[in-house]
Amino acid sequence: MNILLTGKNGQVGWELQRTLQPVGKVTACDHAGLDLADAAAVRRKLDEVRPDVIVNAAAYTAVDKAESEPEQANAVNAAAPALLAQEAVQRGALLIHYSTDYVFDGAKASPYVETDPTNPLGAYGRSKLAGEEGIRASGCDHLIFRTSWVYAARGANFLRTILRLAAEREELRIVADQVGAPTWARLIAEATALALRQALAERRHGRFESGLFHLTCAGETSWHGFASLIVASRGGLRVKTVTPIATADYPTPAKRPANSRLNTDAFRARFGLALPDWRDCLPLCLEEIPQ
Ligand SMILES: NC(=O)c1ccc[n+]([C@@H]2O[C@H](COP(=O)([O-])OP(=O)(O)OC[C@H]3O[C@@H](n4cnc5c(N)ncnc54)[C@H](OP(=O)(O)O)[C@@H]3O)[C@@H](O)[C@H]2O)c1
Repeated sequence: MNILLTGKNGQVGWELQRTLQPVGKVTACDHAGLDLADAAAVRRKLDEVRPDVIVNAAAYTAVDKAESEPEQANAVNAAAPALLAQEAVQRGALLIHYSTDYVFDGAKASPYVETDPTNPLGAYGRSKLAGEEGIRASGCDHLIFRTSWVYAARGANFLRTILRLAAEREELRIVADQVGAPTWARLIAEATALALRQALAERRHGRFESGLFHLTCAGETSWHGFASLIVASRGGLRVKTVTPIATADYPTPAKRPANSRLNTDAFRARFGLALPDWRDCLPLCLEEIPQ
């Protein structure tokens, strides 16, 4: 079983390097080793690795920067997944890909299900939605996992930013009117490996069905709630107050959905997996970040 993993130094990609090991022979590429915006390089890599499974953890994830460089975001998030999907069809490979809560506008009052209408608020969300559509249109065997609010012990993420700022400042002012589920990259990678095992068995028995599933930790909070638990879980920080603020008080180039909650019933039903509460994952991840 040959597995080609892209984006190996990303939050999810890094964890996938480990969780995919027991499933097959993993060839893991970073950005320098495989630029997804280079179609010829992608085809060359596929010829070389001859993967049975392609796991695409690479993405253009700079949400605000995407507003000023949508072409770059589209090249990685829309064109590249479509190319990987077309190649997967020709090569009989299974494609696993990740998408985002940012395909929604956040106006719904309850958690989004997979079939809810999409309406991205920004260039990043539009590029990720186009990626989903390109994969679906190809007809390749695929699983797309939409996730949200990803953090890890390494990489650029909200958890690490809060730890840094909380060591420097006495007050943090954090947005309290966006809700979602902080999701540990390792949970995504472990759930992916288990889901992949099942998908491979289904394919062997000729009963695999492609699909899109929401995959996040259980529970919900605001960015303010997330920051508050991070600070409360760590001693020795300078910060004394975590003040809730409104999105309107923290303007960013890209608009974010107020409701990022994703309903994960379909994922849990299809793969028979439990998804832990975000509050249970956070301490496990914090354990790996030196004080
Ligand atoms: N982070 C979140 O909060 C979040 C939320 C919802 C969904 N997602 C989705 O979850 C998936 C994993 O996200 P993540 O948080 O692990 O992302 P990440 O940490 O930003 O990692 C993305 C990786 O993709 C690589 N990459 C960027 N452009 C590339 C290109 N042209 N060719 C090859 N590699 C390229 C980056 O390498 P360089 O850094 O070297 O460029 C980076 O290592 C993505 O599909 C993302 O859209 C993320």
